[in-house]
Amino acid sequence: MKVLLTGAAGQLGQALLASQPPELELIATSRSGGPGLLALDLADADACRAAVRQHCPDWVLNAGAYTAVDRAEQEPALAQAVNAGAPEAFAEALAAAGGRLLQVSTDFVFNGEQGWPYGPEQSVDPLGVYGASKAAGEAAALALPGARVLRTGWVYGPVGRNFCRTMLRLHRERAASGQPLGVVADQVGCPTSTLTLAAACWRAIGVGTDAKRAPNDGPRILHWSDAGAASWYDFAVAIGELGVAAGLLEGAAAVAPITAADYPTPARRPSYSLLDCTASRQALNLEPLHWRAALAQVLRLCVA
Ligand SMILES: NC(=O)c1ccc[n+]([C@@H]2O[C@H](COP(=O)([O-])OP(=O)(O)OC[C@H]3O[C@@H](n4cnc5c(N)ncnc54)[C@H](OP(=O)(O)O)[C@@H]3O)[C@@H](O)[C@H]2O)c1
Repeated sequence: MKVLLTGAAGQLGQALLASQPPELELIATSRSGGPGLLALDLADADACRAAVRQHCPDWVLNAGAYTAVDRAEQEPALAQAVNAGAPEAFAEALAAAGGRLLQVSTDFVFNGEQGWPYGPEQSVDPLGVYGASKAAGEAAALALPGARVLRTGWVYGPVGRNFCRTMLRLHRERAASGQPLGVVADQVGCPTSTLTLAAACWRAIGVGTDAKRAPNDGPRILHWSDAGAASWYDFAVAIGELGVAAGLLEGAAAVAPITAADYPTPARRPSYSLLDCTASRQALNLEPLHWRAALAQVLRLCVA
C-alpha cells in the first residue's frame, strides 16, 4: 500500500513517521521538504492535485494543517486554503486517480455548549476561523466516497509545539522562581497523545485490520482521543507530577486554576469538547488508554 503523508514535520506527522509500518510505501511531505521529505505546500491546490497524479497513492493521510488557532483569526484566507482547499484538491484528484483520503480534523468543529461528549454524526458549529476552516475541510474530504475524517483534540507529544512541552518549561521556570502558574480550569476536553493518535490513524487506513473486511467497512467519521476528561488545569498539574516522576523536572510549580475569562485569546474556544469515541474505538479495534497513562508514555520520550 502506498501512502502520501502531509504535515510530516508536525507533531502528529513525526509520530506517524516513527511508527510507520514496514510494509507501507510512504511518501512523506512537509511544507518545505527536508531530509527524507518531499516539499508540498498545502496552500497550493494545484500542487496537491499534481502530487496525487504523480504518486497515485492508495491513501492520502492529510495530517498537515494550519493549526495556529489564534493567528487564524487574522489570516482566514490562508487557514481556509490549507485546511479546506487542500482536502478539496486531494478529494478531486483522488476521485480521478482512484485513491482514498484520511482527513485529520478537530474537536474545534463543535461549539462546546452541549455538556456531554459529541458523537461523530452530530452537526458542527465552529466558534472561530480555525474550526470553520477544518469543518469546511471535512465536508470537502467527504465529497470523495472513499474518504474518512478522523477528529481528535488536545494533541500533544514528545516533539513539536504543544501544551505539554510548554508546561514542562513553565514548571521548570516557575518552580525555580517560586511564582505560581495560572492555568484555565473551565475548559474541558481530553488530552490526546500523538503516540495513540498515530496508531488510530494507521488503523483508520486499514493497517493492522482484518484483511477480510471490505475496504469501505466502518464509519466515515471517526472520533479519537485518549480516555477520560480533564481541564487544562488538571492536565498542567499532571504534567508537573508525572514530569517529576519521569526525572524531567526537579520540582513542580504550584498551579492555580483560572477562568478562560482571565486568559483572553483572539479566538474563542469550546468550553467542553469531549469526543464520544465509543463506536470509533470498536471500529478501529483499539483499546483506549487513560490520558494520564498516555502522558506518562509521552514523558518517557521527552528530553529533560
Ligand atoms: N494540535 C492539536 O491540539 C490538534 C487538536 C485537534 C486536531 N488537530 C489536527 O491534527 C492534525 C495534526 O496537527 P498537529 O498537532 O500535528 O499540528 P502541527 O504540529 O502544527 O503540525 C501541522 C503541520 O502542518 C504543516 N503545515 C502548515 N501549513 C502548511 C502548508 N501550507 N503546507 C504544508 N504544510 C503545512 C506545519 O508546517 P509548519 O510547521 O511549517 O507550519 C506542521 O508541520 C491537524 O489536522 C490538526 O488540525 C490538532
